[in-house]
Amino acid sequence: MSQELYDAAVAAMAFSHSPYSHFPVGAAIRADDGQVYRGANIENAAYPEGLCAEATAIANMVMGGGKAIAEIAVIAEKLAKCPPCGGCRQKIAEFATLGTRIYLCDADGIQAALTMDELLPGAFDKSALG
Ligand code: THU
Repeated sequence: MSQELYDAAVAAMAFSHSPYSHFPVGAAIRADDGQVYRGANIENAAYPEGLCAEATAIANMVMGGGKAIAEIAVIAEKLAKCPPCGGCRQKIAEFATLGTRIYLCDADGIQAALTMDELLPGAFDKSALG
């Protein structure tokens, strides 16, 4: 993973709106188009309406024209190797390829590198829809 992607995830975390959990998260995607797309968690007073950092990064990627996730870095201020939630694993899977790598980071850098199959084995995907 490039230093650029790590730096982008750290920078993204500064945009976190997390007044309820006080658990800022940042994510950065390098897409198939070579561009880096960022996201942060955006919480809501109606708790279930909050968005995870990975989800906002994916939304930014799609709206920026990216079609696939080459690599995604996730960092949380208060937890090393913050594991993407179940919903985000499914969201990442939607745009993953065999080469996609998911990097779990902390203040010192990358702490784990995972394939999509490691992150979400047996994922439900478009092949299930026939
Ligand atoms: N969160 C993320 O943004 N990504 C993760 O991978 C795990 C959790 C957010 C959701 C919520 O705003 C806060 O972290 C605490 O759960």
